[in-house]
Amino acid sequence: MKEYNTLDNFTFENKTVILRVDFNMPLDKKTLDILDTTRIKRAIPTIKELIEKNAKTVILAHQGRQGSWDFTNLEKHAIALEKLLGKSVKFVDDIYNEKAKDAIKNLKNGEVLLLDNVRKFKGETDKKSAEEHSKSDLVQNLYPLTDIFVNDAFAAAHRPQCSLIGFTAVLPSCAGRLMEKELTTLEKILEKPEKPSVFLFGGAKFSDVILTIDRLLKNKTADKIILTGLPANAFLRAEGVLLGDKNEELLLKEGTPESYKDIKKLLSKYKDSIYLPLDFAFQDNTNRSELEVSDLPINNNLYDIGEKSIENFKNILSNAKTIFLSGPCGVFENPIFMKGTKEIFSYVANSNVFSIVGGGHTVAAIEQLGLQDKISHISTGGGSLEAFMMGKELPVVEALKDSKNKNF
Ligand code: 3PG
Ligand code: MG
Repeated sequence: MKEYNTLDNFTFENKTVILRVDFNMPLDKKTLDILDTTRIKRAIPTIKELIEKNAKTVILAHQGRQGSWDFTNLEKHAIALEKLLGKSVKFVDDIYNEKAKDAIKNLKNGEVLLLDNVRKFKGETDKKSAEEHSKSDLVQNLYPLTDIFVNDAFAAAHRPQCSLIGFTAVLPSCAGRLMEKELTTLEKILEKPEKPSVFLFGGAKFSDVILTIDRLLKNKTADKIILTGLPANAFLRAEGVLLGDKNEELLLKEGTPESYKDIKKLLSKYKDSIYLPLDFAFQDNTNRSELEVSDLPINNNLYDIGEKSIENFKNILSNAKTIFLSGPCGVFENPIFMKGTKEIFSYVANSNVFSIVGGGHTVAAIEQLGLQDKISHISTGGGSLEAFMMGKELPVVEALKDSKNKNF
């Protein structure tokens, strides 16, 4: 039994549902057109199910943050949703005033309404409990018109914001299908991964990774850890390998002397389970050149892992039953440095393992390589996935659990 409700716990015939989704997407800076609709696509099963069950569906979503260039209204999101759903979607540029309330009251069974960017409401991002948020204008105006709250915004599950948790204090609430799938899949790989399990961390950030790796190895969730990208550089540096000024500067942007101490501690406990690159690629005029770790430092940026590392990592991955990929192996946006990411990700996608991929850049790399259909689970989460992997409680999930224990 799950600690939170799902769509299976309710009947929806004739019910008005508030569905919170994460439609926060990359936009074109000039036209503000949506560049990638993955997050809308992933919410479609829940929306379709609500339509089929004859609910009146009122969708709440955010885009950008107040003051940021990508803080827009959701008109284009409604059009994109309509196309992907193959059914008309109503949109009003209002969140909880008369226009929105009238639109909700006029909804018929099976109809879908998208309200405007919920972050236009000033209280949305206040840090409050579900109980406190439920006193807000947003919740107080909308909840009397609705019957059930469905949360499918896994990618925002780490944010204790008003529209994400406030309704759970006043309405029967449940997780949508995407939320449910993300949570069950990720719980499974953290609690009972099929063994051996290998977790690969790459990309351009490393400070959060330290804590995550510690937890994964301590709990025996991961048998082996492979590091590429900035995490690999940070671990090598902590071991005393000099990388060259340009590479060290990059590390200094994020790391502190404390990070290196933490890495050293981690390495002293788990050295045999953590695998670092043997070689790297750098730009030599317009070409790709490679050098071994023993030839470092170098005055060029390290942009990818080298051939020996690729072979070694494939070997390590070859007997795994579960593989988690977070972060590309190099600067894959540049064709000459795509090699490490391409070879490793393709190897994982084409092998018979349970594979999980998470994080915006990782998912982008998987899609660029056309591997999306060969991965077992692609998480929509960025920050929420990171928080989950670090063992932090997700406020949205906690609110759903609390709500299940309430009588409405
Ligand atoms: C995201 O894309 O990270 C989520 O939608 C949450 O948005 P935020 O990082 O702006 O809070
Ligand atoms: Mg974010």
